[in-house]
Amino acid sequence: MVKMAGESGGVAYAEVPKWAVEKRGDALKEAVAAIRKSKGVDTELVHRLVVKFEKDPRYKKVRDRALETMKGVDMPYHGGLRHPLEAEVVALTIAVKEDIPLEDLVYVGIAAVAHEMGVAEGCKGHEERSVRNAYKWMDEAGYELRDIGLVGNMILHGTRLPQMPRGKLEEIISDADLANLGMDSFPESGELLRLEERAENKLEWLKGQQKFVESHMKRGGYFTDSARKMFGWKERENLERLKREIAMLEAVRDPSSGVR
Ligand SMILES: [Fe+2]
Repeated sequence: MVKMAGESGGVAYAEVPKWAVEKRGDALKEAVAAIRKSKGVDTELVHRLVVKFEKDPRYKKVRDRALETMKGVDMPYHGGLRHPLEAEVVALTIAVKEDIPLEDLVYVGIAAVAHEMGVAEGCKGHEERSVRNAYKWMDEAGYELRDIGLVGNMILHGTRLPQMPRGKLEEIISDADLANLGMDSFPESGELLRLEERAENKLEWLKGQQKFVESHMKRGGYFTDSARKMFGWKERENLERLKREIAMLEAVRDPSSGVR
């Protein structure tokens, strides 16, 4: 494991496996820098939490195995570990702001890191596969059934679309999963997703993104007060930016619109 120092040379936000840095060095550094820039995300606090959690060998075993899943996966968004690491740091930041007790924070961290590892075997039904993996890893590491269930429910009810969280912990994972809609790095993470999904028509892709953001907002947006404060305003800005980009691409496609 190596520590990724921040731009300021200060405390790293979390421990990243050495293989991931070797394979995705620049992309990971960019992701960490993008996370650091998001308003309200406390990367130093989360780093301290992860270091504390890792003193428990069970946690370290599960986190390492989850990240390891993506080792041979060549996917621009998920394979680069950008999303699970972002979800981890955001979920733990929200959880601390929402006064989740320390003993439950560790499960928020596990659910965030493991929630999408099922995509390594394909996108369809990946949430169920992620849950099965998390059950297996946690069981083998020696976690209690109650804690394994907690993580499984967070992944299933919090991240499967449409999100249907049934309590604070599941709401936190829901919000962390879609935090990218309200981050500065939204255009960049969207582009990585587009490449991953091999969507060649950029205009159609952006329209799909607009529809997705609008439906998230129509359903009430972020569930927790903390996520609303951190990401709600930026989600609205990102939507306006998307609309402008779409209008621009349409104008370029249709010169009669008057845009030069
Ligand atoms: Fe996700």
